[in-house]
Amino acid sequence: MHASIRFALGAASALLIGCAAASAEPQPTPVAGNGLAHPQTWPKYHYPVPRDPAVEAKIAGLLKRMTLEEKVGQLVQADLCCVKPEDLKTYHLGSILVGGNSGPNGNDFSPAPDWLKAADDFYLASVDKSDGGVGIPEIWGIDAVHGHANIIGATVFPHNIGLGAMRDPALIERIGAATAQEVRVTGQEWTFAPTVTVPQDYRWGRAYEGYSSDPKLVASYVGAMIRGLQGPPDRPNLLARDKVIASTKHYLADGGTKNGVDQGDAQISEAELRDIHGLPYGPAIENGVATVMVSFSSWQGRKMTGNQSLVTGVLKNQMGFGGFTVSDWNAHGQVEGCTNDSCPQALTAGIDMYMAPDSWKPIYNDLLTRAKAGTIPLARIDEAVSDILRVKFRLGVFTAGKPSDRPLSGDWKVLGSPEHRAIARQAVRESLVLLKNQGVLPLKPGGRLLVAGEGADDVSRASGGWTITWQGTGLTNAMFPGSTTLWKGLEQAVTAAGGSAQLSPDGSFSQKPDAAIVVFGEKPYAEFQGDRATLALDGDLTGPYATMKKLKAQGIPVVAVMITGRPLEVNPALNAADAFVVAWLPGSEGAGLADVLIGNAAGKPRYDFSGKLPAAWPKTPSMADGALYPFGYGLTYASPHTPWKAVPEIAEDARDARIYFAKGVPAASWSLVLGNIDRADEKRITTVPADAIGGRARITAADAQVQEGARRVQVSDGGAALAVSSHDPINVSRETNGDVLVLFTVKVDKAPAGAAVALRCDGSGCGARAPVVLPANGKYVRYGLPLKCFAAKGADMTKVTAPFILETTGAADYSLAEVRLGSDAEQVLPCG
Ligand code: BGC
Ligand code: BGC
Repeated sequence: MHASIRFALGAASALLIGCAAASAEPQPTPVAGNGLAHPQTWPKYHYPVPRDPAVEAKIAGLLKRMTLEEKVGQLVQADLCCVKPEDLKTYHLGSILVGGNSGPNGNDFSPAPDWLKAADDFYLASVDKSDGGVGIPEIWGIDAVHGHANIIGATVFPHNIGLGAMRDPALIERIGAATAQEVRVTGQEWTFAPTVTVPQDYRWGRAYEGYSSDPKLVASYVGAMIRGLQGPPDRPNLLARDKVIASTKHYLADGGTKNGVDQGDAQISEAELRDIHGLPYGPAIENGVATVMVSFSSWQGRKMTGNQSLVTGVLKNQMGFGGFTVSDWNAHGQVEGCTNDSCPQALTAGIDMYMAPDSWKPIYNDLLTRAKAGTIPLARIDEAVSDILRVKFRLGVFTAGKPSDRPLSGDWKVLGSPEHRAIARQAVRESLVLLKNQGVLPLKPGGRLLVAGEGADDVSRASGGWTITWQGTGLTNAMFPGSTTLWKGLEQAVTAAGGSAQLSPDGSFSQKPDAAIVVFGEKPYAEFQGDRATLALDGDLTGPYATMKKLKAQGIPVVAVMITGRPLEVNPALNAADAFVVAWLPGSEGAGLADVLIGNAAGKPRYDFSGKLPAAWPKTPSMADGALYPFGYGLTYASPHTPWKAVPEIAEDARDARIYFAKGVPAASWSLVLGNIDRADEKRITTVPADAIGGRARITAADAQVQEGARRVQVSDGGAALAVSSHDPINVSRETNGDVLVLFTVKVDKAPAGAAVALRCDGSGCGARAPVVLPANGKYVRYGLPLKCFAAKGADMTKVTAPFILETTGAADYSLAEVRLGSDAEQVLPCG
């Protein structure tokens, strides 16, 4: 026992030294363990929020007067999707939230005043005492994780990974303060931020929500962000000022899961858990963070939400956290032995408030029934209620009046104010990391500048996930009033100095420019949908490499600007461009880019680069091959211009596990099969041209994007089914829950009389189909059908053998280019 702890500590300190460089693979050797922590081996901290005897007396008084129903209600948080203000009168819920995809009146795009109106409606219902109850005000939580970015018109700050590059805790505090003010304008009291995750594998789709892979860097920011949001820990009545309560998340080791899988399992030692992932909770507690959100993920196979040793033993008892804990979105349903509707285990483990978005009513009823039956101790309920009430007293919600009566409420000019945008612009400037400069930067403003790349004039692309919508998709520039795209900022800087600028996404031009900036990189994604199998930039996003090469070949100096949530292998761009700048996910104030890239009239920099890599940059799509640039790397204008040594360009064979059919061929372990709808006469297509179904169908190669990038199917009449299938069933249940679509890119030249998209699973009769309409328009369209459609029709998503089957009747002529899972459909089809 003693020896094993010593060994574990040794391993952890080695990891701490090396971990700045580690970001994906090699995974630490799995550690055997049962997921039970030893709290006495964890540090103790001081929670600095004073206990006020007068407040304690009020809490005790309330506990005496509250019915069991009122107490249980405090423990439950419902999402706006699924709760009405009247419900708060009946169920006395302690809190409401808006998840990434909800908003007032069922509208994610609701204008700001509607949010304040909704805040009043829910508050007033919660304090209604007409039933003789105590009327405890609810509090409203929201993911203001990079500014109040759920709301149209708010300042969108860079995502945390960019802030990590800044190394500027003082600016972090100002960002926190500005965010708190904007949240207060629309009447919410609580942000589910900061995320203090310490990602160790950047294939994780939430890696950008973390400041850095280095626990010390993360820890150096946490206190500043919490002070910015909440103010000093000893100043109560946050609502009388311009503050909100914060939530550090996700406790614990959300960024330590094996292979970077979202909601996965951290198979690490207790020492790594404590010294890497636990480190940022020290400053969080010492700055009085009001709430902690417990992670969906597991440690050593045990779900955090049910882990009493870590939630109560370590966080509350040993580390001294004195606020309340909240679980994540239906995370209680994943605890061993629980469902979304019932999970007393979470309360026992130390969860004080259940985030039960759509499951709040069953959870409330279940807790109440158990409390009445005496199978959950009343003392634990009283304790959780007291912790929640104590935070509510500190917040000042009992005396603040209704949301619209509080300071800053409805002060619309504060939302996206010039002052806040200036802070965000500074953050953009400071977060830029320069990886290469062969002397082309800074650009002289007097000349002719070409700006290429689809992302250059797109705020949504620059903002990433958790922006207005959950995944940050489906947005246009019009939804960001007051913002400045990267392109606009560049254009303004250049024209102000007498030069000219042209925006040309594909890089074509009428007059040869003096220099070109090519913006490229990732498209928005959020939790789970952003998980990748490798650190390669998605194949469909590498088009701008050719633009860079083409411009360079014409003698035009090229600056590559990468929008990205994580370090990725982009060696062709690094080789092709004369300068390479990582902009991360800069948000709404794109002018910060021009501040640094465009020099003054004398050709001297106006601002220097100061950003440093918050995580190592990979040499290949696998971190196992080492870092091309280490943690902390970043050039400045003072750096010497050393000759560029080309980095190896890797053949693009690192396949994404969620691609089943690409460029006209099935991915490894998949087959293309053509047969009758009833599966008679099925034939595996290995070469083309080929005939199938007794000569009724012919399959040939067709061009799409690349030569022969598709398979063309011509059916003379009758029924036909083209399937992408495998003998080894795959489990896509998590994808189904995560709102992922099956995407298929097809060009229809002759529309069939009838069509359906089907999915098949292992077992006789297992599967489901959705009728679809695919008009013949002669061009490739990437259609998407939600996996949920098939689940709803009874398919077993845990053992899918064919994720895509196109069934047609009558004569048909179509070409299939790609089948994969994802969210970026050009057209989402109804479930039928
Ligand atoms: C996420 C949290 C978020 C919550 C509410 C969850 O799915 O994991 O980070 O705060 O949803 O939107
Ligand atoms: C919600 C998010 C939540 C996610 C969890 C979405 O529908 O909008 O806030 O984090 O579901 O899977």
